[in-house]
Amino acid sequence: MSTLKIGVIGAGRIGKVHTETIARSVPEARVVAIADVNLAAAKDLAARVNVPSVSDDYRKVIQNPDVDAVIICSPTDAHAQHTIETAEAGKHVFCEKPIALDLPTIKRVNDTVERCGVKFMVGFNRRFDANFKKVKQMVVERKVGDLHVVKITSRDPGPPPAEYIAVSGGMFLDMTIHDFDMARFIAGKDVVEVFAVGGVMVDPAIGKAGDIDTAVITLVFEGGALGIIDNSRKAVYGYDQRLEVFGSGGMVKVDNTAPDTHDYYGPDGVHSSLPLNFFMDRYIDAYASEIKEFCQVVGENKPVSVGGRDGLMSVAIALAAKRSLAEHRPVKVAEVLEGKK
Ligand SMILES: NC(=O)c1ccc[n+]([C@@H]2O[C@H](COP(=O)([O-])OP(=O)(O)OC[C@H]3O[C@@H](n4cnc5c(N)ncnc54)[C@H](O)[C@@H]3O)[C@@H](O)[C@H]2O)c1
Repeated sequence: MSTLKIGVIGAGRIGKVHTETIARSVPEARVVAIADVNLAAAKDLAARVNVPSVSDDYRKVIQNPDVDAVIICSPTDAHAQHTIETAEAGKHVFCEKPIALDLPTIKRVNDTVERCGVKFMVGFNRRFDANFKKVKQMVVERKVGDLHVVKITSRDPGPPPAEYIAVSGGMFLDMTIHDFDMARFIAGKDVVEVFAVGGVMVDPAIGKAGDIDTAVITLVFEGGALGIIDNSRKAVYGYDQRLEVFGSGGMVKVDNTAPDTHDYYGPDGVHSSLPLNFFMDRYIDAYASEIKEFCQVVGENKPVSVGGRDGLMSVAIALAAKRSLAEHRPVKVAEVLEGKK
């Protein structure tokens, strides 16, 4: 398999993660072009990992003849435009989540990539985490028997800046979207109904921006199994990413991972290290596996394991959760998919 030459659009938090991960641990790929409207950010990242082409115009990445595939790390409201233009240039696309904030736009993106015949992978990196993959495998092998409950705890160490929240689509579409995708991935089933409650407990500024920072969401999967997601934008002890799956044959759970496994026994109790602090640390290996798979999918003409339909369904669940919160009632995902008001 020859090296996949990648262009990156957006040199912010996740653009840096992907670019640096590729440089450090994905020999199957090389970043050859970076664009960011903030040219200084693009230049800084390019200099750190030796990328030859730098621009403040994303089209310079898409049109670059050296680029085989583009990783889209721009803000959510630019994903659809960037994906469509990349696909129409005949290049493969890896797009960060969510594809867009509304279903008609996502359907337009999915139709375009299909029409253009390019690969389209969506950045649900947690599917590539070794711990969660193991749980998935155990569910598939029926180690937990019939699935009864999928329980996800997902709390960030701190909220993103207000300007990020403004274009993110809100907590369900920005943050919980990973958990909605994880729930579908683990259960191997679509979600049919959602009930969400939430509040502003971390920062009143988030409430003023029209969003929430704390939520509990219940899910019903097709066939009747249940899910529960517990979210916060701020856990004082760091990034809290836990999963439990319960069924007729047993239970499997994944705890947080820490930088080391020491336990200190002292006069005040037993102490260990806090969990790895945020996504850049907790999922560093998952990001590398994710991009390795993208290289394989392109190089060996394989189907993607997480693509446009997953991107669509996760947003549909998030929109159902938003409606449930606003109207204080359980909402069928079909209601959102069918565009009912
Ligand atoms: N999968 C994950 O773990 C993960 C983690 C973080 C963010 N994300 C997603 O990645 C996207 C970016 O998030 P972030 O946290 O990196 O945001 P960020 O604000 O840190 O970075 C976005 C960057 O894009 C640049 N930008 C804005 N408009 C642009 C344009 N038209 N062309 C080129 N560059 C442009 C900005 O200047 C900024 O540097 C969001 O959609 C977010 O949901 C995914």
